[in-house]
Amino acid sequence: MDQPIAYATGPCPPPAEVAALYRATTLGARRPIDDPARLAGMCANANLCVSARSGGQLVGFARAFTDITYVTYLADLAVHEGFQRRGIGLELVRLVRAAAPQAMIVLLAAPQAVDYYPRIGFTRHDSAWLLRPGEPLPES
Ligand SMILES: CC(C)(COP(=O)(O)OP(=O)(O)OC[C@H]1O[C@@H](n2cnc3c(N)ncnc32)[C@H](O)[C@@H]1OP(=O)(O)O)[C@@H](O)C(=O)NCCC(=O)NCCS
Repeated sequence: MDQPIAYATGPCPPPAEVAALYRATTLGARRPIDDPARLAGMCANANLCVSARSGGQLVGFARAFTDITYVTYLADLAVHEGFQRRGIGLELVRLVRAAAPQAMIVLLAAPQAVDYYPRIGFTRHDSAWLLRPGEPLPES
């Protein structure tokens, strides 16, 4: 029988555990999981993390930045491929929202998840803008 899923809002899990989970999803190709320093920074500096565990194993994870009262940036949402389509992703988003109910949640969808977010209630926004590391800003 399937183990129940235990959810926890709090500190991010250790980076190695996060890397193992991301490797078990398509997010593994889109995050710096082989760069321990960057991964450690991602885990240490996020201020809202929700994890989902089955029998102790990390099977789902949400990593976000929130000011609590206005906006929450949801940076990563991942559910282990063996545990997808069981409502874990939705519950992680519910718990992210519950931690800061006044804040709107903003995110950039991975290509594999563009149809997921409208399915669970998100509205598309046509004005998202990126400045990648190293891309120039005008001289002052
Ligand atoms: C996207 C992801 C987080 C969804 O998590 P999940 O636990 O499988 O999703 P849920 O079980 O909460 O799904 C909720 C609903 O969305 C649907 N859904 C799930 N994944 C979907 C997808 N990729 N596209 C469209 N609909 C999807 C489910 O069928 C379900 O619908 P239902 O209630 O009518 O049955 C998960 O598939 C994942 O980790 N993907 C790889 C990493 C990734 O792309 N993350 C997003 C980064 S922005």
